This record gives sequence, C-alpha cells and structure tokens, in this order.
Amino acid sequence: MDINFANVSKNYAARTNEKMQEVLMDPAGVGPAVYYYMIRGGSNQKNITVWEPGTISSEYIKTYGHYHIGNLDETYWFLYGEGVALLQKLAVDGNGMMIPDVVEEFKAVLVKAGENLFIPASYGHLVANVGKTYFVTADDSPVDFEDHDPASLPGHADYELVKQMHGFAYYVVEHDGRPALKKNPRYKAIHQQELSGLPVIE
Ligand SMILES: [Fe+2]
Repeated sequence: MDINFANVSKNYAARTNEKMQEVLMDPAGVGPAVYYYMIRGGSNQKNITVWEPGTISSEYIKTYGHYHIGNLDETYWFLYGEGVALLQKLAVDGNGMMIPDVVEEFKAVLVKAGENLFIPASYGHLVANVGKTYFVTADDSPVDFEDHDPASLPGHADYELVKQMHGFAYYVVEHDGRPALKKNPRYKAIHQQELSGLPVIE
C-alpha cells in the first residue's frame, strides 16, 4: 500500500518501497521507504513530484510508470536535478487493445532542470532520477478530486500494464557511475527505439 494522507490533505501522496517493488528490476530490492512524493493540483495548478536520489540493486529511483486512459497528452517541466525519461508505445491487436509485451516505439530521453518534455497521448511514461540530488518536476495532468484516491492513483492513469510487465522495456541503471539501460527480458519485441546515446548493458 502507498501512504495515503487523504485525511490530512487530498493533494498529497507518496509512493513507497513496497508498492515500487512490483516494477523494480530486482523485485526483492529495498530502497528508501518513500521513492517519490506527489503534490497534486491538477491541470491548472499543476502537479509537483519530488524524487529521492539513489539506486536499488543498481536501478535508479524512478516513478512507477503509467499509460493514460483516453486521448490525453501531458507536459513535464523539469525544475531541479537530472533524469532519464522513458516513453513507450505498445503495439495494438486487431481490436485496438494494447499488447503488454510488444513495444511499437521506445524512447529514452536525458532531461534536466530548465527543459520540458511533451508526452503524446498513447505513450506510457516514467522518469528516473539519475542525479545526486532530489529531482523535481511539474506536470499538467488532470486530477479529479472526486476519485477514490486522487493523489496517489488518479483516474486518468493505468498502472496495470506496467505492473504486469514488472516495469518498462528497459530499466535505467547506474553503470560505471553513469546512466545506462538494461533490457527487461519479459518484453517480446521492441520494433523501434531511440536511446539518446545511452549504452545498453547485459
Ligand atoms: Fe501521466
């Protein structure tokens, strides 16, 4: 379970080690009690996320990752620190359903304070903190405060496909003190990829 502060503030949530283990490269890995903190304001006020720095069995601390439900894009503004954003678009079957383990397009993007990143509607996304400090972003995704648990699990986000695959098609790992990528062996295929020069390690 994530820490739910709904009785204190409906705007605040924190993603815990226990929850993150579902999507870690090393599912038994133990990191900090909280990986990242979320303050939800929605599209107008914006949402703020703060990542802890560090690694778990060499994987950098990241957000859980999700796909958007419906035709919803999102912009991230990077406010402090440095990260690697992962975007992946899944292949779809004849009925238009996403195929969990076949990636149509994968992108890894190095990002840092002062930059922003547009995430088109059908791209699942997560961001890893690859710096030594906190990493801080603002984003404009909508939050319906009538939802059951709007700060921790906003209704526009689908986490199940990521949970099922134990993360995205690559993990962002520290290798020789720098970020690198390591393939998640559960994915069957990646049809197209753009890795921004990040090395892929075995
Ligand atoms: Fe999102």
